[in-house]
Amino acid sequence: MKTTISQVSQYTGKEVTIGAWIANKRSSGKIAFLQLRDGTGFMQGVVVKAEVSEEIFQKAKSVTQETSVYVTGIIREDERSPFGFEMGVTNVEVIHEAVDYPITPKEHGTEFLMDHRHLWLRSKRQHSVMKIRNEIIRATYEFFNKEGFAKVDPPILTGSAPEGTSELFHTKYFDEDAYLSQSGQLYMEAAAMALGKVFSFGPTFRAEKSKTRRHLIEFWMIEPEMAFYEFEDNLIVQENYVSFIVQSVLENCRLELGVLGRDTEKLEKIKAPFPRITYDEALKMLHEKGFDDIKWGDDFGAPHETAIAESFDMPVFITHYPTSLKPFYMQPAKDREDVVLCADLIAPEGYGEIIGGSERIHDQELLKQRLEEHGLENEAYKWYLELRKYGSVPHSGFGLGLERTVAWISGVEHVRESIPFPRLLNRLYP
Ligand code: 4AD
Ligand code: MG
Repeated sequence: MKTTISQVSQYTGKEVTIGAWIANKRSSGKIAFLQLRDGTGFMQGVVVKAEVSEEIFQKAKSVTQETSVYVTGIIREDERSPFGFEMGVTNVEVIHEAVDYPITPKEHGTEFLMDHRHLWLRSKRQHSVMKIRNEIIRATYEFFNKEGFAKVDPPILTGSAPEGTSELFHTKYFDEDAYLSQSGQLYMEAAAMALGKVFSFGPTFRAEKSKTRRHLIEFWMIEPEMAFYEFEDNLIVQENYVSFIVQSVLENCRLELGVLGRDTEKLEKIKAPFPRITYDEALKMLHEKGFDDIKWGDDFGAPHETAIAESFDMPVFITHYPTSLKPFYMQPAKDREDVVLCADLIAPEGYGEIIGGSERIHDQELLKQRLEEHGLENEAYKWYLELRKYGSVPHSGFGLGLERTVAWISGVEHVRESIPFPRLLNRLYP
C-alpha cells in the first residue's frame, strides 16, 4: 500500500511504501536510522541488519542525504518521538542518488542558506514555517467566509499609489506608466460598495530601501474592506481575525510549533479583545520608558513599537495617529482634526506592526481636498473619487502583512524565513 507520512497513523502494524527523501542518517554495524521526509512530514525508519537482506542493509547504510527512495516497512507507534510513529524498514529502493548535497546537518551562515533557498526549504525548520504559513492562509479563508465576506481580487498592475509615491515599482504599460500594486485597498473600497464585505489576498510591492527583519520588497497582504463599518467595528473584525488564526495554528500545527521551539503559552493567551491605546498615550508611555527625543508628530520606529509591545502580552492597537503621518484617505476624528480614525496593530515580542487600517473618508469634498494636499488630484484617482459621488457610505478596512504575522506566530527572527522566496533589498535570487 502506497501512502504518505501524514497518513501513517491509519496503518499501524501494516506494511506500507512511502516515496521519500533521506533527510539524515545514522548507522552502526547492526542498525541504521533513516530520517525520512516526504513533504507531508518527517518520520524515522529503522533498518535492523538481522531483519533484512545484507544488500538492503548495505544500501540503507550508504544512502546519501537527499537521495530519493521508495521505502517499505511496518508502521509502529513510537512514544519517544514527537511524531508518534516510526517505520520498521523491510526494503529500500533508490530512485535517484543525491551527491554532495550542500546543506549538511552542520551550521551554515545565513547568506549561504539564502543562496540555497530552493534547497533550504526542505529542512525541518523551513518546512514547519511553510506549514504554519499555509495554515494561516487556510484559516484566513475560513474566517472571512464564515463571517460572510466575499473574496475579491484587485489588480497587480495599477495606475494609483495608495501608500505614497516614493516606494513604487515603475513599469511601462505599452504607452502608459504603471506601478506594481502597493496595496489593493482603493479597489477593495470599490468592491465593498458592490459586495458589502470583501477581502483580498495577494502580493504587494514596496520599493522600500529598508533592510530590517520586518521588511520585504514583495510581501503578501490580506485586505478586508467593509461598507457601513465605522472605526470601532473595524477593530473588532481585526481582533477576532487575529485571534482566530493564532488559535487555528495552535490547534493544527502543534508539531510544527514544537520543531520551531515556539513558546506556545504566549500564543494561548492571544484572544480578543485586544488592548487599545491612542498615539498620545503611546507617546506618554515612550517618554516614561526613557525615549526622550520623540515628540508629538513623529512616527514610531521599530524600537518604539517594541517598547510599547513589552507592556502587553497581547497585540495592542495604537489608534488616532497624527493626520500628517498617514495616507490621504483616512477619516479625521470627529472632535479633533489633527488625528485620524486609524489603528496599527502591534504584535507582541518585538514583531512590530502586523496590521494597518482605518475608517476611510466618505465625504467627496474632503477627499478631494486631501487628494489635492497630497498632489494626487489627477486622472488616476478620478474613479476613486467617484465612489463618493453615488451613495457614499462610511466604510473601513485594514491590511494584514502575512509574513510579519507568520514570523510572529512561528517565532522566527526575520521575515526572510516566512516567505518561500524572499525578495530583499539585495536579493532577487533564487
Ligand atoms: O500599513 P500599510 O502600509 O497599510 C496599507 O497598505 C493599507 N492600504 C492597508 C489597508 O488598509 N487595506 O501595510 C499593511 C501591513 C503592515 O501593517 C505590515 O504588516 C505589512 O502590511 N507591510 C509589510 N510587510 C513586509 N514588508 C514590508 N515592506 C511591508 N510594508 C507593510
Ligand atoms: Mg502601516
